[in-house]
Amino acid sequence: MFYETADNRHGLAHDPFKAIVAPRPIGWIGTRSADGVRNLAPYSFFNAISDRPKLVMFSSMGHKHSVANIEATGVFTTSLVGAELTQQMNTSSAAVGAEVDEFALAGLTPGEGRLVAAPYVTEAYAVLECRMTEIIRPKTLSVPSDSYVVFGEVVGIHISEAAITDGRLDMSIVRPLARMGYMDYSEASSTFELFRPQLP
Ligand SMILES: Cc1cc2nc3c(=O)[nH]c(=O)nc-3n(C[C@H](O)[C@H](O)[C@H](O)COP(=O)(O)O)c2cc1C
Repeated sequence: MFYETADNRHGLAHDPFKAIVAPRPIGWIGTRSADGVRNLAPYSFFNAISDRPKLVMFSSMGHKHSVANIEATGVFTTSLVGAELTQQMNTSSAAVGAEVDEFALAGLTPGEGRLVAAPYVTEAYAVLECRMTEIIRPKTLSVPSDSYVVFGEVVGIHISEAAITDGRLDMSIVRPLARMGYMDYSEASSTFELFRPQLP
């Protein structure tokens, strides 16, 4: 099958787009407002996009609190979500007012970034401290959109000692949560090794 996204007539019961680009890691974005209120929200249009330099991005459909706070402060944290924090992650996505601290709402313990003035989830298995490099509005779109893409340089990384086995982040311990399509989630539970081809 093929369909054009301009009218999105896929003919299926549900829009397949998010299921097509799956699994997606969930970036749990920690920020502080200009007024000093802590903010936490999950974004699955999130990923690492470079290792040298270490860069991440997330995309906000609308001018949400996370974007406004990063515009104001220039920094954010990304806590990574393990399966055991699924409910807290979901609670933190509630559409609450800017005055609400989602760390408190979700029963999470905030830590303070060492290099950036932004809060993070101490219960997370890993946390990236990020300095915003730019926020872009996609141009030349075929449909009008209130969309923002935030890029950040990772300047500091926290890892839970309990998540490390033999010098490696142990996926069987951290069980990264991923967003699939529809209302589906997945937890990465198996891995295998594959080495790139060597030139003779
Ligand atoms: C698993 C998950 C992933 C989400 N991913 C996104 C996303 O990529 N972009 C977005 O705009 N909203 C996303 N949301 C919705 C936001 O988390 C929600 O709108 C939240 O209230 C935004 O908070 P903020 O205004 O404090 O930034 C997601 C929600 C969940 C539960």
